[in-house]
Amino acid sequence: MTARTPMIRMASVDKHFGELHVLRDINLEVAAGQVVVVLGPSGSGKSTLCRTINRLEPIDSGTIEVDGQALPAEGKALAALRADVGMVFQSFNLFAHKTILENVTLGPIKVRRIGKDDAEKSGLALLERVGIADQKDKYPAQLSGGQQQRAAIARALAMKPKVMLFDEPTSALDPEMVQEVLDVMTTLAKDGMTMLVVTHEMGFARRAANRVVFMSDGEIVEDAPPETFFSNPTSDRAKDFLGKILTH
Ligand SMILES: Nc1ncnc2c1ncn2[C@@H]1O[C@H](COP(=O)(O)OP(=O)(O)OP(=O)(O)O)[C@@H](O)[C@H]1O
Ligand SMILES: [Mg+2]
Repeated sequence: MTARTPMIRMASVDKHFGELHVLRDINLEVAAGQVVVVLGPSGSGKSTLCRTINRLEPIDSGTIEVDGQALPAEGKALAALRADVGMVFQSFNLFAHKTILENVTLGPIKVRRIGKDDAEKSGLALLERVGIADQKDKYPAQLSGGQQQRAAIARALAMKPKVMLFDEPTSALDPEMVQEVLDVMTTLAKDGMTMLVVTHEMGFARRAANRVVFMSDGEIVEDAPPETFFSNPTSDRAKDFLGKILTH
């Protein structure tokens, strides 16, 4: 029997920005349905790691596969891969001149070639799922930050991605809106979505993650279940990091 193909596989990945060695020999496998939280100090390479997975950033060497498929360099194959990997950023990046429903249906209509009626039907269902169906005809600027971020999650889900990447999805939100976004992410995790999440929300890491990956200076320094990582970090760099954030 062969082991199941990991949903995300990074092997010996290296990347530089000029002189800066920003990803150093990254080896990371995420099984289907797993939730991995990426932690680490500012500048350690967390965002770059995320961005290489859907090829927003090219790599110098190594391999990245999504569901067993190597990342295509360009063209139609790359567009298809991007559609398989949903990404949600700190800034919501919604299309300002489209309604919330249009934001969610645009990708399926243009990229997945779904008919407008079907796209609207599933778009509405997704807006229900993230709790903002009543906002469907508004424009992004008319929504709160938490509502906009939930719309961004719905928009990514509309492409039926195999993997969802989140890069500090709650960092730009007012505190009272953080939980509503984390709740949507927790439900998604429970529903079996494969997720890689960069976040400073330690509660989410403890409750929803199967693993915590700790990065420092472009390296993966620790990779452990959250209970192990938080109670018994092995490296000095992780101990130092946890000391700083937990005393805040
Ligand atoms: N496009 C770029 N060109 C040059 N250097 C870059 C570029 N993007 C990031 N860097 C540098 O690469 C390093 C890693 O950046 P990255 O954004 O991945 O870190 P991070 O862990 O996400 O940090 P933060 O927690 O602040 O978001 C940093 O030193 C950053 O200045
Ligand atoms: Mg970052």
